[in-house]
Amino acid sequence: MKDFLWWRDGVIYQIYPRSFADSNGDGLGDLNGIISHLDYLADLGIDAIWLSPFYPTPDKDFGYDISNYMDVDPRFGSLADFDRLTSEAHQRGIRIIADLVLNHTSDQHPWFKESRSNLKAAKRDWYIWRDHPNNWQASFGGRAWEYDAPTGQYYLHLFTKEQPDVNWRNPQVRTALLDVFRFWLGHGVDGFRLDVFNAYFKHADLPDNPPKFGLRAFDRQRHIYDIDQPEMMPFLNEMRTLLDSYPERYAVGETYFASPQKTVSYCGPDRLHAAFSFDFTSNDLNYPWNPRWVMERVMKREVNFISADAWPTTVMSNHDLPRAASRYSRGEDDTQAFLAMTLLLTLRGTPFMYYGEEIGMRNIHLRRNEILDPPGKKYWPIYKGRDGCRSPMQWDDSAFAGFSSQKPWLPVHPDYMKRNVNSQKADPDSLFNFTKKLLTLRREFPALCRGDFVPLETPPGMLAYLRRSGDQSVLVAMNFSNGETGFPPPSGQWRVLLSTSKGSAGALTAGEIQLLILE
Ligand code: NOJ
Repeated sequence: MKDFLWWRDGVIYQIYPRSFADSNGDGLGDLNGIISHLDYLADLGIDAIWLSPFYPTPDKDFGYDISNYMDVDPRFGSLADFDRLTSEAHQRGIRIIADLVLNHTSDQHPWFKESRSNLKAAKRDWYIWRDHPNNWQASFGGRAWEYDAPTGQYYLHLFTKEQPDVNWRNPQVRTALLDVFRFWLGHGVDGFRLDVFNAYFKHADLPDNPPKFGLRAFDRQRHIYDIDQPEMMPFLNEMRTLLDSYPERYAVGETYFASPQKTVSYCGPDRLHAAFSFDFTSNDLNYPWNPRWVMERVMKREVNFISADAWPTTVMSNHDLPRAASRYSRGEDDTQAFLAMTLLLTLRGTPFMYYGEEIGMRNIHLRRNEILDPPGKKYWPIYKGRDGCRSPMQWDDSAFAGFSSQKPWLPVHPDYMKRNVNSQKADPDSLFNFTKKLLTLRREFPALCRGDFVPLETPPGMLAYLRRSGDQSVLVAMNFSNGETGFPPPSGQWRVLLSTSKGSAGALTAGEIQLLILE
């Protein structure tokens, strides 16, 4: 494809390293495991891998609590393995995106150990210490302040108490964190996913957040002083200048409760390339899923992301949320998963595919005593945590789904004997093969990647839109209903590019999907 820009036109595949493939039989996935499946990913047709954290960590938040930014946790491998992973991925045309968690460190990071050692410690001001806490709440439950008896002060943590927030207002901290970018750029990384980036800066005076209606204490305040402070922008400018001193580097920010307007404002040629808008994700398994709901969401996003500087992202699943196939499907029926995959790969925006989404992996269900995730332990049974979407990748029907030779850190989904990569590869009608075909079409037709989005009027139960670029028009039509429906494609000669329907162009029975091109 001409002018192919990998982070705009390509598809990014998220790997949660501890759950993808275990090469050394310790029950935990690792970098060598990922390397051994790069051919699989190249064959699938993705363009980049986002690696959730692989750095040394005490695992209080499963890697999102980092104790050394410039190394690999020995359980996942070594820096040499990381270099091999980047080089092997690059040989296959796959880019690497590292997850940087820079709002907080682990409490085991040497910076924090030094900071908490005494009131006069050289790095005392690298974290946020106060004599008296304000009313801020941690999003994983409880107050956002932890009392440190030896020094008689409280430190701020927006997540668990083992994840102290760093003080981004301290210039030394800023320099040290920019060095983290430099370090990984030096190791060949092509891009970064910035964890909760809009929480880096807090209001300098740490005022109380004003109250509002909500269920949890966290939701009962307006988060106007703990996130989205104006000082964020100069930092984004500085970071972007650094990235732009390398060819085609990328940064996508994970927004933390940001409004759509704020999210868009963080994107542009002198700031982030993209910021997540979680339009199609939810913690609620009973969330609506019908064409009207989907189109409303899409149109809201289209309006917000109207600026040429803000390229949207599409996310259906990730390591924090129930998998899309679990939200929208009943049992093992993949009809809804096909629809979700079509949206993921044909809406306007960079698709972020979560490992296993291509085979429709479902969430696992855990008993209370099996839960590992801190917010799950805290809020069970109202909220059961995020372990459900982090189960081992289902490669084949051998013991432990071909993920490991030993009992994995989380159980494999019991459906793995039927639902696995091997079985779906062999079935021409599987979600895997459908996904692969869509990925091939994206490479062939720029309209599907960077084209405009034009909604079409359809009968109830259907969803249809055009993607248009230059003189290329691709029509995407989906039947969400249980019955037969159809619609005449707009005037012109339409050729079928991909269809799960045996009928003619425009005729779709329950759950069927068609992609047509205007000749
Ligand atoms: C967002 C990450 O996606 C999540 O997994 C993590 O727990 C929090 N940030 C804290 O780092």
